[in-house]
Amino acid sequence: QSQTSDSDQGSDLVVVANRLPVDRKVAADGTATWKPSPGGLVSALEPVMQRNSGAWVGWTGQPGDAPEPFEARGIHLIPVELSKKDVEDFYEGMSNGALWPLYHDVIAQPQFHRHWWESYVRVNRRFAEKAAENSAENALVWVQDYQLQLVPQMLRALRPDLRIAFFNHIPFPPYEIFAQLPWRRQVLDGLLGADQLGFQRPADANNFLRACRRNGLATRRGLVHLPAEPRFGSPDHHPSREVRAAAFPISIDAEQVAALGQRPDIQERAREIRRELGDPKVVLLGVDRLDYTKGILHRLKAVEELFAEEVLSPPDAVLVQVATPSRDRVEEYEKMKRDVEVTVGRINGDYGQLGHPAVHYLHQSQDREELAALYLAADVMLVTPLRDGMNLVAKEYVATRHDEQGALVLSEFAGAAIELPQAFLINPHDIDGVKAAIVRAAGLSPREATRRMRAMRRRVFEFDVARWASTFLKVAASAAEPSTPGRVT
Ligand code: ADP
Ligand code: F6P
Repeated sequence: QSQTSDSDQGSDLVVVANRLPVDRKVAADGTATWKPSPGGLVSALEPVMQRNSGAWVGWTGQPGDAPEPFEARGIHLIPVELSKKDVEDFYEGMSNGALWPLYHDVIAQPQFHRHWWESYVRVNRRFAEKAAENSAENALVWVQDYQLQLVPQMLRALRPDLRIAFFNHIPFPPYEIFAQLPWRRQVLDGLLGADQLGFQRPADANNFLRACRRNGLATRRGLVHLPAEPRFGSPDHHPSREVRAAAFPISIDAEQVAALGQRPDIQERAREIRRELGDPKVVLLGVDRLDYTKGILHRLKAVEELFAEEVLSPPDAVLVQVATPSRDRVEEYEKMKRDVEVTVGRINGDYGQLGHPAVHYLHQSQDREELAALYLAADVMLVTPLRDGMNLVAKEYVATRHDEQGALVLSEFAGAAIELPQAFLINPHDIDGVKAAIVRAAGLSPREATRRMRAMRRRVFEFDVARWASTFLKVAASAAEPSTPGRVT
């Protein structure tokens, strides 16, 4: 366990993320409850922080005043306030209307507004100040993701004693795309405040290093050299230093996920789900945040064509699509939600029967137990993003399948494809290719399913999230001198 000092002195390990691991939900009668926050960042980091004492600085998911620091799910949480306007400009605007589409291959058109950027700078400063107030002398502060790219530099200015690490959960785009960002130099400068930068894939780290070179910085084997001069117009003098950038593919708590799949009540629930679906021969499953990067419409198109061609025929074959509501006030998300609803409605109109829809669409968050039962019930898991930093759903499916059955159809544009080559790898834009993979996966012999699943499980169990965190933090602790690393178990 790393040491946590008392609250006056701050913590030795501080995670700074846009969101806390719990989300504040206010009911119509005004009562507030805390629910797990959506997304892969929280799924991955929560078990790491539960095992290591430390603090987590983040937003509650609701506009308004921040509550006092509190303990939840075994973690010390320090809320940061976002006003309604901050939510519109920093979160929905700059983070999810500009950076998210830009960093995901411009699948949707990014919008750049100067007032969004100004809000991004202000809110990043607020996160940096909160982290600075709550960090012990020489603490390791671990900043997360694209919403907080300026925090490393701001934190270094406030607290030069800290060791600062940053992990980007989403892709870092090729320079030709990154260069569109009007504030590209400020973003690079912000990130370079860290001692250690982590990315999902080697290609992401290389894209970042190339962006540095294109902005006049020298790089050498994963190191960016910052000369001892004012940089990018800053009047301050900085001594020379080096920033390290490398790939650290994130993962899941494989044991914890697998334990759910072993539970008799969850196995019974999986059998019950199949009964509720009408005992089909083939259950296809999609589990995603409702995000245009996830390729849900491409997946639906492939399935619809298979139904039309009677290659798969409801009610013998059904698709279950569970989609967590996400960012639904951002225009592109609203549009996508409508498109999914129309498509699901059309497929059910054409191929459903009374009491037997062809597509079961749940626009809901499910608890971990229900998700595990769905993974066990599914013959074919469809993970078809157009671009995804990692995709933890693919790893969760594999970890849950202790029976070594089931098949994974996985986009080659998800970071997870590098680690799971035994999946049926597809290009989601190639609808015929997706259809062919679904048909092969649905008809897989139990023997071949075991061969593939066993290899994928081995990888996911060996490179789990504890290993990811300990590898990253060990490297981060050694990147900055001097001091006592916070050990992660
Ligand atoms: P992202 O971070 O873009 O949302 P990931 O696949 O990496 O994508 O992580 C998604 C996480 O959210 C996973 O841990 C998954 O179990 C969880 N999740 C996805 N859909 C749902 C849902 N409908 N209900 C509950 N959890 C979900
Ligand atoms: O990296 C995945 C991620 O984008 C996180 O940064 C984010 O917290 C999560 O998915 C969910 O998105 P949001 O916080 O916008 O609901």
